[in-house]
Amino acid sequence: MTRTPVNVTVTGAAGQIGYALLFRIASGQLLGADVPVKLRLLEITPALKAAEGTAMELDDCAFPLLQGIDITDDPNVAFDGANVGLLVGARPRTKGMERGDLLEANGGIFKPQGKAINDNAADDIKVLVVGNPANTNALIAQAAAPDVPAERFTAMTRLDHNRALTQLSKKTGVPVSEIKKLTIWGNHSATQYPDIFHATVAGKNAAEVVSDEKWLAEDFIPTVAKRGAAIIEARGASSAASAANAAIDHIHTWVNGTADGDWASMGIPSDGSYGVAEGLISSFPVTVKDGKYEIVQGLEINEFSRARIDASVQELTEERDAVRALGLI
Ligand code: NAD
Ligand code: LMR
Repeated sequence: MTRTPVNVTVTGAAGQIGYALLFRIASGQLLGADVPVKLRLLEITPALKAAEGTAMELDDCAFPLLQGIDITDDPNVAFDGANVGLLVGARPRTKGMERGDLLEANGGIFKPQGKAINDNAADDIKVLVVGNPANTNALIAQAAAPDVPAERFTAMTRLDHNRALTQLSKKTGVPVSEIKKLTIWGNHSATQYPDIFHATVAGKNAAEVVSDEKWLAEDFIPTVAKRGAAIIEARGASSAASAANAAIDHIHTWVNGTADGDWASMGIPSDGSYGVAEGLISSFPVTVKDGKYEIVQGLEINEFSRARIDASVQELTEERDAVRALGLI
């Protein structure tokens, strides 16, 4: 193997998403079947032993592409030379915790990690924040990394995108492989807006194929937007394998590009497009080429969509104002 390995840092590596994610990265599904990887696992001190157990299992897979595993509780070590950072570990909301408490607790995680990325990561670092509230955690990390180009900090809405693909596929009877140009707008939260008005189903406009605004408003949108809660209710734990799968998809797309005639949804710093305040990390339709994403421009936004995008962006604005008031950005 002559290629230089890519350093992939995963935070919260001993958690349930970590367990579903690491083996897929090591097998080549993140970056490609010919790209060797080195894994850096960041955990809090009490979870280091569990991370070591996962590393033992990774060893036992004898993955040809896996060229090393480091385990640490020090963000500076974890992000040293990192090319890809998957920020999964976060503070979950627990009983009696207000939203402000949650944002503050996560600030204590994402601010130092952002600084560690700023000080130690490779020049081409790409960051995906998975840990919730993902968009605002990404904003906190980004603000702590002034030397890293802002667009390298992204938040995961690919799981929402994939969920929407399947719901639309079930409604229309057309396989997901024939559904293109679906968009998730806004926050990775219940206010997100899955938009089918520009999507195509087997080449035809999805909204026209469905032609059922009641289904859209009362079934499709809430099913996608509340899917995370439905999984927690059913499984007794939040989505893990599907979240890991979406993280793989997000980075794979960012590195390898979108297919012609299609786009993906990514939570990215807004440049003001579509009336989303500049700087907010909000989900947009993007095309990707040569490792760079661009917001799809020129889409007509109807009234139905406008109201829903605005509501989700309003929530992002409130989250940003809250972390600003806490001095986190
Ligand atoms: P988990 O509780 O199983 O694992 C989280 C891990 O993070 C734990 O092992 C914990 O020790 C670790 N951790 C906590 N603080 C850390 C720190 N400062 N540094 C490094 N590691 C730290 O949780 P999970 O199921 O793996 O989910 C992780 C996060 O992903 C949660 O916030 C969850 O809500 C979120 N999530 C996001 C999406 C999405 O689509 N964006 C989907 C599913 C889950
Ligand atoms: C999901 O969308 O499955 C998760 O973000 C839910 C959660 O709160 O962890």
